Amino acid sequence: MIRSVLITGANAGLGKEAAKQLAAHAEIDMIYLACRNPEKALAAQKELEGETGRSIFKILIMDVSNLHSVRTAVQNLAKPVDALVMNAGGTGGRNFNRLNEQGVTEIFAVNLLGHAVLTEELIKAQKLIKVAMYAGSEAARGVQEMGMKQPEFIDSSVEEFISVCDGSLFGDITDATIPYGPIKYMGAMWMSAMARRYPEVRFITMSPGATTGTEGFNSLSFVKQYVMKTMMKVMLWLGKVHQVETGAQRYLRSLFDTSLVSGTFYASQKGLTGPISDQSKLFNDLANHKYQDNVYLAIKKFAD
Ligand SMILES: NC(=O)c1ccc[n+]([C@@H]2O[C@H](COP(=O)([O-])OP(=O)(O)OC[C@H]3O[C@@H](n4cnc5c(N)ncnc54)[C@H](OP(=O)(O)O)[C@@H]3O)[C@@H](O)[C@H]2O)c1
Repeated sequence: MIRSVLITGANAGLGKEAAKQLAAHAEIDMIYLACRNPEKALAAQKELEGETGRSIFKILIMDVSNLHSVRTAVQNLAKPVDALVMNAGGTGGRNFNRLNEQGVTEIFAVNLLGHAVLTEELIKAQKLIKVAMYAGSEAARGVQEMGMKQPEFIDSSVEEFISVCDGSLFGDITDATIPYGPIKYMGAMWMSAMARRYPEVRFITMSPGATTGTEGFNSLSFVKQYVMKTMMKVMLWLGKVHQVETGAQRYLRSLFDTSLVSGTFYASQKGLTGPISDQSKLFNDLANHKYQDNVYLAIKKFAD
C-alpha cells in the first residue's frame, strides 16, 4: 500500500494535479511537494488543502537542477517515502542550453540529472521504498504530429550520450524542443537501467501524454510558444490531446497498477493520447540493455 509520495515540481501543472488526485486516496497520509520556489509552493499547498480538505501536504524545498539543493532536500526528508514522482521538467527555461556547474545543460539538469541524483540518494538513505515514476514523453520516440523526429544516435555509446548531457550534440541552438526528445529518451533508458540495478523498487517511465492546461510551453521563445500553443488548441479540438486530469491519471496508474512492468516506458500507443503501451515495441532501442547501461554511465559522469 502506498501511504506517502514525493512529487517534484508539484506547484503547477501535472505535478499539482497529481497531488490533488492522490489526496483522494484515504490511505495516503503524506504528500511532499518538492518545489524550488517557496512562495509558489505555499500557494499550491494552500490551494490543495482547500480543494481536498486534507492537511497532508508538506513542502520540501528542492531545485531539481541544483545537485546541492537535491542532496539537502534528501537530508531534510524526515521519513522514507513509498513513492517518488519525478515530474519537474519541460523545456528548461529561457537559458535551456546554458551549462551549469556540473557541465550539463539546464534542460538536461532539470529533466534528468537532478532526478538521477535524487533517486540514488533516496535509495542510498533507504528513503525510497516501493515505486519511482519518471515523467517521460512521446517525444522520446518521436512525435510526427508535432514535427519531432525520433531521436537518432550513431552508436549509442557512452560518449554520444555524454554529448546530449553537455549539449555538444546539438551545438548552439535556440529551440529547446530539439534536445527535449533525446533527453526524455535518455530518461526512459536510465529508468530501465535502474530497474535492473534495484529490483526491490519498481521503476516506471510514464508519459502523461499531450496535456493542455499546464505551463509547459511558457518558457519557450515567444514564436515557438505561439506555434506550440496554437497546435495544442487545434489538436484539443481534434481530440488528439487531453486535459491535465487525464495526464495526471497516468501518473497515478504508474504508482498503483502493479501489472505495469518495472523498467518499461509507457506512453500513448498511437499519437499523443488514448491507451498506453510499451514504447519499446515502437522504438526497439528502448529495450537494448547495452544502450541503457551506456546512458546510465553517461549520467554518472556528471552526478558527483
Ligand atoms: N504537458 C505535456 O503535454 C507533457 C507531455 C509529455 C511530458 N510532459 C512532462 O511532464 C512534466 C510536467 O509538465 P507540465 O506540463 O505539468 O509542466 P509545467 O506546468 O511547466 O510544470 C512544471 C513544474 O516543474 C517545476 N520545475 C521546473 N523546473 C524546476 C526545478 N529546477 N526544480 C524544481 N521544480 C521545477 C515548475 O516549477 P516553477 O513554477 O518554479 O517553474 C512546475 O511546478 C515535465 O517533465 C514534462 O516534460 C508534459
